[in-house]
Amino acid sequence: MGMMDSDSQCGYWEARYRSGDMPWEKGAASPGLVDFLEGNSELERGTVCVPGCGTGHDVYAWAGAGFQVTGVDIAPSAIRLARERLRTAQRKARIARADFLRNPPLQRFDWVFEHTLFCAIQPTDRPAYLKALLRWLKTGGTYLAVNYLIPDQDGPPFGTTRQELWELFSGDFDLVMEWVPRSSPTRAGRDLMRWWRRRRKTHEKRLARQ
Ligand SMILES: C[S@@+](CC[C@H](N)C(=O)[O-])C[C@H]1O[C@@H](n2cnc3c(N)ncnc32)[C@H](O)[C@@H]1O
Repeated sequence: MGMMDSDSQCGYWEARYRSGDMPWEKGAASPGLVDFLEGNSELERGTVCVPGCGTGHDVYAWAGAGFQVTGVDIAPSAIRLARERLRTAQRKARIARADFLRNPPLQRFDWVFEHTLFCAIQPTDRPAYLKALLRWLKTGGTYLAVNYLIPDQDGPPFGTTRQELWELFSGDFDLVMEWVPRSSPTRAGRDLMRWWRRRRKTHEKRLARQ
């Protein structure tokens, strides 16, 4: 995938949209998210960030459930397609172009919803992903992730394991629940959903005090 700076990441993803090389595009929101929103209708409505939102299916689902959603993507074509989708459907949400890992947060959110961004970034960028998550999410906020448990090392998508996810996030987040969600047919049985709540004191602060 070449160099790691923001411009080359943007160029890489933009080229994939322009050439129509988008195997991740399933034409619908993540089935696991749809079920989550249906099954948890009592959740307090708040602000949600969907980083790496692509063409906006998941943003559309959150907006439909009454949340104040912001979809963020690094690729201008994804932004255009997501805005078109929301306009056509007359659903209100903000779509913004930003590098989730490297740009300052647009605001701090009650929720961050992850679906196929973690597996899209370079594995060496995973510590930067965690730091970014801590910048974009309020303390006490919720991180809901659909993770892709595949062995691939030659991504994107890059695989991960339950263990790696645990080691990365459990220092700053408490696990509320995890489950294997309904998936699109090509991903059946390989998705894992984790519902995390951010602790009020971060791992770094706790470590610094020791
Ligand atoms: C595999 S696609 C998934 C898109 C969408 N989540 C979906 O499931 O349809 C990964 C998306 O993340 C975006 N992306 C990659 N790196 C990013 C970054 N650092 N900040 C924001 N978006 C990024 C890409 O442009 C692309 O739209």
